[in-house]
Amino acid sequence: MVIENKRIRSFVLRAGRVTAAQERAILEQSPHFGIVLDSNSGNLSFNLSKVFGRIAPLCLEIGFGNGENILQLALKNPDRDYIGVEVHRAGVGHLLNCIAQAGLTNIKVIFHDAVEVLENYILPGSFDEILILFPDPWQKKRHNKRRLVQKKFIALLASRLKPKGLLNLATDWESYATQMLEVLSAQPELKNRAANNRFISRPEWRVLSRFERRSQRLGHSVWDLSFERL
Ligand SMILES: C[S@@+](CC[C@H](N)C(=O)[O-])C[C@H]1O[C@@H](n2cnc3c(N)ncnc32)[C@H](O)[C@@H]1O
Repeated sequence: MVIENKRIRSFVLRAGRVTAAQERAILEQSPHFGIVLDSNSGNLSFNLSKVFGRIAPLCLEIGFGNGENILQLALKNPDRDYIGVEVHRAGVGHLLNCIAQAGLTNIKVIFHDAVEVLENYILPGSFDEILILFPDPWQKKRHNKRRLVQKKFIALLASRLKPKGLLNLATDWESYATQMLEVLSAQPELKNRAANNRFISRPEWRVLSRFERRSQRLGHSVWDLSFERL
């Protein structure tokens, strides 16, 4: 993964522990279940339609962490294809291992900054669904600018959805939930699917990830949002 320097990132790469099994999975499973972006061949070089060798509804998960949600979704919905983008090395290795063990053919992993992937490699109207579950809340005021859910990024995501495509989010941080609601509601191509134009109930497909379990232990509430591309 090559990271450009200048822009404000939604993540900080930490040296955290990566197990030998996760490193091995990155080395051995990336050729099978990873998508390697070719930065030399220029923008939009990445041909999504060839990735799975079939035409099926396509879902993107941004920042999948350990991959609990995308893995379960891929297992339960063999008629849909899934792409997960993550920058956290241990999480990428973990998910690659799980995919290889389950022998799944409807899920691929991109080890890269999702903002760059969407800006440079994905054509408009590509996805039926985009998930951003518990994005880093960047709680301190001076760090809020690092939050993934901002006007510019949501405009980019809206453009990468197909008409009637869904953008589903969750957060356990109230001020971020409010920001998400404001930013998404202000995006003209998006329509809130919540009956009260605010938040939806917890969707049944969402599994309890390690991150969410921790958040529960801390007594946090969770806000779910679901918007449709007009
Ligand atoms: C708080 S964790 C939540 C993980 C997971 N979605 C869950 O619900 O358990 C947020 C994740 O987003 C990833 N992330 C943050 N910014 C990202 C970006 N620009 N591109 C890809 N992943 C990103 C982080 O590495 C981290 O693993």
